[in-house]
Amino acid sequence: MISDKMQKALNDQLREEYFSSYLYLSMAAYFHSRNLDGFANWMMKQSDEEKGHAMKFYEYINEQQGKVVLGALEKPQTDWASPLAAFQDAYKHEQKITGLIHNLTDMAMAEKDHATHIFLHWFVEEQVEEESNVSKVVEMLKMVNDHPQGLLMLDRALGERK
Ligand code: FEO
Repeated sequence: MISDKMQKALNDQLREEYFSSYLYLSMAAYFHSRNLDGFANWMMKQSDEEKGHAMKFYEYINEQQGKVVLGALEKPQTDWASPLAAFQDAYKHEQKITGLIHNLTDMAMAEKDHATHIFLHWFVEEQVEEESNVSKVVEMLKMVNDHPQGLLMLDRALGERK
Protein backbone atom coordinates (compact mmCIF):
# COMPACT_ATOMS: atom_id res chain seq x y z
CA MET A 1 0.00 0.00 0.00
CA ILE A 2 1.05 3.58 -0.59
CA SER A 3 -0.29 6.72 1.07
CA ASP A 4 -2.78 8.96 -0.75
CA LYS A 5 -0.11 11.66 -0.81
CA MET A 6 2.40 9.27 -2.39
CA GLN A 7 -0.18 8.03 -4.89
CA LYS A 8 -0.79 11.60 -6.03
CA ALA A 9 2.93 12.32 -6.27
CA LEU A 10 3.52 9.15 -8.32
CA ASN A 11 0.63 10.04 -10.63
CA ASP A 12 2.13 13.53 -11.05
CA GLN A 13 5.45 11.95 -12.02
CA LEU A 14 3.69 9.60 -14.47
CA ARG A 15 2.30 12.71 -16.17
CA GLU A 16 5.75 14.39 -16.18
CA GLU A 17 7.27 11.34 -17.88
CA TYR A 18 4.46 11.33 -20.45
CA PHE A 19 5.00 15.03 -21.02
CA SER A 20 8.71 14.28 -21.56
CA SER A 21 7.68 11.80 -24.24
CA TYR A 22 5.42 14.44 -25.83
CA LEU A 23 8.14 17.13 -25.66
CA TYR A 24 10.72 14.88 -27.32
CA LEU A 25 8.21 13.93 -29.99
CA SER A 26 7.75 17.65 -30.62
CA MET A 27 11.54 18.01 -30.92
CA ALA A 28 11.55 15.05 -33.35
CA ALA A 29 8.95 16.88 -35.44
CA TYR A 30 11.12 20.02 -35.41
CA PHE A 31 14.13 18.01 -36.65
CA HIS A 32 12.04 16.21 -39.28
CA SER A 33 10.84 19.61 -40.54
CA ARG A 34 14.50 20.61 -40.98
CA ASN A 35 15.33 17.34 -42.79
CA LEU A 36 17.65 16.30 -39.97
CA ASP A 37 16.28 12.76 -39.81
CA GLY A 38 19.12 11.42 -37.63
CA PHE A 39 18.45 13.98 -34.91
CA ALA A 40 14.74 13.23 -35.30
CA ASN A 41 15.45 9.50 -34.89
CA TRP A 42 17.34 10.18 -31.65
CA MET A 43 14.40 12.20 -30.32
CA MET A 44 11.84 9.55 -31.38
CA LYS A 45 13.81 6.91 -29.46
CA GLN A 46 14.00 9.25 -26.48
CA SER A 47 10.26 9.82 -26.69
CA ASP A 48 9.68 6.03 -26.67
CA GLU A 49 11.95 5.67 -23.62
CA GLU A 50 9.99 8.32 -21.74
CA LYS A 51 6.74 6.52 -22.44
CA GLY A 52 8.42 3.45 -20.95
CA HIS A 53 9.28 5.49 -17.84
CA ALA A 54 5.65 6.62 -17.54
CA MET A 55 4.52 3.00 -17.79
CA LYS A 56 6.85 1.97 -14.95
CA PHE A 57 4.93 4.40 -12.73
CA TYR A 58 1.62 3.07 -14.11
CA GLU A 59 2.57 -0.49 -13.23
CA TYR A 60 3.98 0.39 -9.82
CA ILE A 61 0.88 2.34 -8.74
CA ASN A 62 -1.28 -0.64 -9.76
CA GLU A 63 0.97 -3.13 -8.00
CA GLN A 64 0.55 -1.07 -4.84
CA GLN A 65 -3.26 -1.32 -5.20
CA GLY A 66 -3.39 2.38 -5.96
CA LYS A 67 -5.29 4.11 -8.74
CA VAL A 68 -3.70 5.58 -11.82
CA VAL A 69 -5.22 8.99 -12.56
CA LEU A 70 -4.02 10.62 -15.77
CA GLY A 71 -3.59 14.39 -15.77
CA ALA A 72 -3.67 16.91 -18.62
CA LEU A 73 -0.56 17.44 -20.74
CA GLU A 74 0.44 20.99 -21.59
CA LYS A 75 1.21 21.95 -25.18
CA PRO A 76 4.92 21.40 -25.84
CA GLN A 77 7.12 23.97 -27.54
CA THR A 78 7.15 23.32 -31.30
CA ASP A 79 10.06 25.35 -32.65
CA TRP A 80 13.63 26.05 -31.68
CA ALA A 81 16.18 28.56 -32.94
CA SER A 82 18.71 25.81 -33.75
CA PRO A 83 19.51 22.13 -33.07
CA LEU A 84 21.73 23.32 -30.22
CA ALA A 85 18.85 25.30 -28.68
CA ALA A 86 16.62 22.20 -28.83
CA PHE A 87 19.21 19.97 -27.14
CA GLN A 88 19.96 22.63 -24.54
CA ASP A 89 16.25 22.66 -23.71
CA ALA A 90 16.26 18.86 -23.55
CA TYR A 91 19.16 19.04 -21.08
CA LYS A 92 17.34 21.62 -18.93
CA HIS A 93 14.27 19.41 -19.03
CA GLU A 94 16.25 16.38 -17.82
CA GLN A 95 17.68 18.43 -14.96
CA LYS A 96 14.14 19.37 -13.97
CA ILE A 97 13.09 15.69 -14.06
CA THR A 98 16.09 14.75 -11.93
CA GLY A 99 14.96 17.30 -9.34
CA LEU A 100 11.43 15.87 -9.34
CA ILE A 101 12.73 12.31 -8.89
CA HIS A 102 14.91 13.47 -6.00
CA ASN A 103 11.90 15.20 -4.37
CA LEU A 104 9.90 11.99 -4.71
CA THR A 105 12.75 10.02 -3.17
CA ASP A 106 12.88 12.48 -0.26
CA MET A 107 9.13 12.02 0.22
CA ALA A 108 9.46 8.22 0.24
CA MET A 109 12.21 8.49 2.87
CA ALA A 110 10.16 10.90 5.00
CA GLU A 111 7.18 8.51 4.87
CA LYS A 112 9.42 5.49 5.59
CA ASP A 113 7.93 4.02 2.41
CA HIS A 114 10.72 1.53 1.71
CA ALA A 115 9.09 -0.09 -1.31
CA THR A 116 8.66 3.22 -3.15
CA HIS A 117 12.14 4.26 -2.12
CA ILE A 118 13.58 1.10 -3.74
CA PHE A 119 11.34 1.52 -6.81
CA LEU A 120 12.75 5.04 -7.29
CA HIS A 121 16.39 3.86 -7.21
CA TRP A 122 16.16 2.86 -10.87
CA PHE A 123 15.03 6.37 -11.78
CA VAL A 124 17.79 8.04 -9.74
CA GLU A 125 20.37 6.03 -11.70
CA GLU A 126 18.57 6.49 -15.00
CA GLN A 127 18.62 10.27 -14.59
CA VAL A 128 22.42 10.25 -14.30
CA GLU A 129 22.53 8.44 -17.67
CA GLU A 130 19.86 10.66 -19.23
CA GLU A 131 21.63 13.90 -18.29
CA SER A 132 24.95 12.53 -19.50
CA ASN A 133 23.55 11.39 -22.89
CA VAL A 134 21.87 14.71 -23.63
CA SER A 135 24.83 16.73 -22.40
CA LYS A 136 27.17 14.84 -24.77
CA VAL A 137 25.05 15.87 -27.76
CA VAL A 138 24.97 19.48 -26.49
CA GLU A 139 28.77 19.50 -26.32
CA MET A 140 29.10 17.98 -29.81
CA LEU A 141 26.69 20.58 -31.21
CA LYS A 142 28.78 23.34 -29.65
CA MET A 143 31.85 21.92 -31.42
CA VAL A 144 29.98 21.73 -34.73
CA ASN A 145 28.94 25.37 -34.28
CA ASP A 146 26.32 25.22 -37.06
CA HIS A 147 28.78 24.13 -39.75
CA PRO A 148 26.66 22.14 -42.25
CA GLN A 149 29.24 19.40 -42.73
CA GLY A 150 29.60 18.75 -39.01
CA LEU A 151 25.85 18.89 -38.54
CA LEU A 152 25.32 16.26 -41.24
CA MET A 153 27.98 14.00 -39.72
CA LEU A 154 26.35 14.27 -36.32
CA ASP A 155 22.96 13.66 -37.93
CA ARG A 156 24.27 10.41 -39.39
CA ALA A 157 25.69 9.34 -36.00
CA LEU A 158 22.45 10.09 -34.12
CA GLY A 159 20.48 8.24 -36.78
CA GLU A 160 22.12 5.05 -35.55
CA ARG A 161 20.47 5.16 -32.13
CA LYS A 162 18.42 1.96 -31.80
FE1 FEO B 1 12.22 9.91 -17.85
FE2 FEO B 1 14.33 11.49 -19.37
O1 FEO B 1 13.45 11.20 -17.78
